[in-house]
Amino acid sequence: MPHDFMPGLAGVPAATSSISDVDGQRGILEYRGIRVETLCTSSSYLETAYLLLFGYLPSASEFQQWVTDITHHRRIKFRIIDLLKSLPESGHPMDALQAAVAALGMFYPGRNVKDVENNYWSAVRLVAKLPTIVAAWARLRHGDDPIPPRDDLGFSENFFYMLAESVAPPVWGEIFDDCLILHAEHTMNASTFTGLVTASTLADPYTVVASSIGALKGPLHGGANEEVVVMLREIGTVDKARPYVERALQNKKKLMGFGHRVYKVKDPRATVLQELCRRLFKECGNSPLYEIALEVEAAAGATLNSKGIYPNVDFYSGIIYDKMGIDVDLFTPLFAMSRVSGWLAHWLEQLRENKLFRPDQIYSGEHNRPYVPIDKR
Ligand SMILES: CC(C)(COP(=O)(O)OP(=O)(O)OC[C@H]1O[C@@H](n2cnc3c(N)ncnc32)[C@H](O)[C@@H]1OP(=O)(O)O)[C@@H](O)C(=O)NCCC(=O)NCCS
Repeated sequence: MPHDFMPGLAGVPAATSSISDVDGQRGILEYRGIRVETLCTSSSYLETAYLLLFGYLPSASEFQQWVTDITHHRRIKFRIIDLLKSLPESGHPMDALQAAVAALGMFYPGRNVKDVENNYWSAVRLVAKLPTIVAAWARLRHGDDPIPPRDDLGFSENFFYMLAESVAPPVWGEIFDDCLILHAEHTMNASTFTGLVTASTLADPYTVVASSIGALKGPLHGGANEEVVVMLREIGTVDKARPYVERALQNKKKLMGFGHRVYKVKDPRATVLQELCRRLFKECGNSPLYEIALEVEAAAGATLNSKGIYPNVDFYSGIIYDKMGIDVDLFTPLFAMSRVSGWLAHWLEQLRENKLFRPDQIYSGEHNRPYVPIDKR
């Protein structure tokens, strides 16, 4: 019997999972049953990563060991830095990140994915090293030497240190850590599914993450937060926001940072990010982009809210990163730095009851076609 064809596999379950859940009608996102808002208030990115990967909140000693392991594996080999140096500096940072992560696997062979201990160390290395790769690339492409990580700094503080060789205001570290929590996991999206397909072949975790990074790059997925800031800069001033939105909607143009396949109300992550914006700007001075964004949300809401289209996670995150002086094309790599913990959680879950992904297709081509020799075509 022929199966129903669902373009984009929309609504087709690809796995059973206990990692995260979205209630798109009520605007609820939970990691292992805990709401993201609670995790932002009470947890840290590294603790949340542990929760995602291993399914429970760590005890004090488990958490201390996890933080120590991550801290000790932040460095990257000089050959990875040499590899980054050999790439064109005008290249997109997501491509550099994908190349470096794929190459990492050659230094830490993890071919036997049935080895539980090896899998733990692969997860540690990937969570620990992605920020170092992103920061190294951000500096190398401007002709600056990479800054090695500092063991006395927390995960987020250290990232800013590796970017700028100076310690950022504490509020930046706190807000950035919350941003990482919000981006860490989001059920069966395109990059997670890509990673699962790769994982199901029993490929090593570096290859799994490299393939997910490739899927995250596209503007319909992780790339949208870059485009939001580009749009807000193009609008330029608050008074131009409403006419811009009206023109865009009249021309059937999609507003970046709006709409979601699952959420039909405002994305809960957008609400938290908006609060983080307010906190950041109160402490560090206003951002003109935020004022423009508020006006865009109000103007677009009049038309789009009735269709279930509201700001998504990408609408306010870029404004925060922009205020922190981070280059726009690094926004999606920041997403990857955080989402790696969700990808790896799905990888571990997939391995527990692995079945090779091998979907079917509905063939729409011809049969029994004659071969026409080249001189007769
Ligand atoms: C995320 C996204 C791909 C989900 O789309 P989807 O569920 O497949 O919905 P569709 O693209 O089929 O859109 C359904 C309707 O909403 C409209 N719509 C969806 N997103 C819109 C947006 N961002 N701006 C304006 N209209 C939008 C479509 O034009 C369409 O309208 P119509 O029925 O009058 O033709 C889509 O909302 C989008 O492209 N958003 C912008 C990119 C973005 O921010 N991506 C990050 C997602 S976290």
